[in-house]
Amino acid sequence: MLEIDPAQLDRPAAYKLMISLIVPRPIAWVSTISPGGSLNLAPFSYFNGISSHPPIVMIAVGARRGERKDTWRNIEQTREFTVNVVIQELVDAMVLSSGEFPPEVDEFKEAGVTPLASTKIKPPRIAESPVSMECKLEKIVEVAGSALILGRVVLYHIREDLMAEGSVDPKKLMPVARLGDDYYSYLGEVFQRARPK
Ligand SMILES: Cc1cc2nc3c(=O)[nH]c(=O)nc-3n(C[C@H](O)[C@H](O)[C@H](O)COP(=O)(O)O)c2cc1C
Repeated sequence: MLEIDPAQLDRPAAYKLMISLIVPRPIAWVSTISPGGSLNLAPFSYFNGISSHPPIVMIAVGARRGERKDTWRNIEQTREFTVNVVIQELVDAMVLSSGEFPPEVDEFKEAGVTPLASTKIKPPRIAESPVSMECKLEKIVEVAGSALILGRVVLYHIREDLMAEGSVDPKKLMPVARLGDDYYSYLGEVFQRARPK
């Protein structure tokens, strides 16, 4: 077994290693609006749910050259965001939206996806995504230069054909996951194990 002390790694090496170890990761494709009204879109794979009733999700957003990323600043200032699920047909647009654009650029346009008005919050969701969550900021916890952003889901949008008995069918959804480097994955075989009683 190799032993690697993360304290001995520089930032790029530490990032490269860590994102190859915690896999597969779901991708939150997040939309926000700046206080000036520009639409922002970016993917985040440090993403998960931490509570379901009430539904709370988390994304971890870092800084770039010492500056908070636009998503972090927008959520801090406007307290609202949407999380959209990425499927096969949306991978290229999602990757495009991870590019560095000045804050005033409409990233829906850059990525070639359609903003669809949300119901309870200002940032629009992505029309092409089969599952979207409207979120309101619950809390930001700063940890080691990153923002752990906790959002409360105030509305789910789910394409009707995906639902079966209160759940989204993973084989119909076919979400895309992030791996290490620039690798991604679809779902492999889906199997079932009953939980112990
Ligand atoms: C699939 C994918 C996952 C990403 N996950 C994260 C992440 O979890 N945290 C982060 O800070 N950046 C992540 N990034 C990089 C951001 O998307 C990128 O820095 C983006 O430009 C941020 O946009 P913003 O400045 O508009 O917020 C990821 C990029 C890709 C392609």
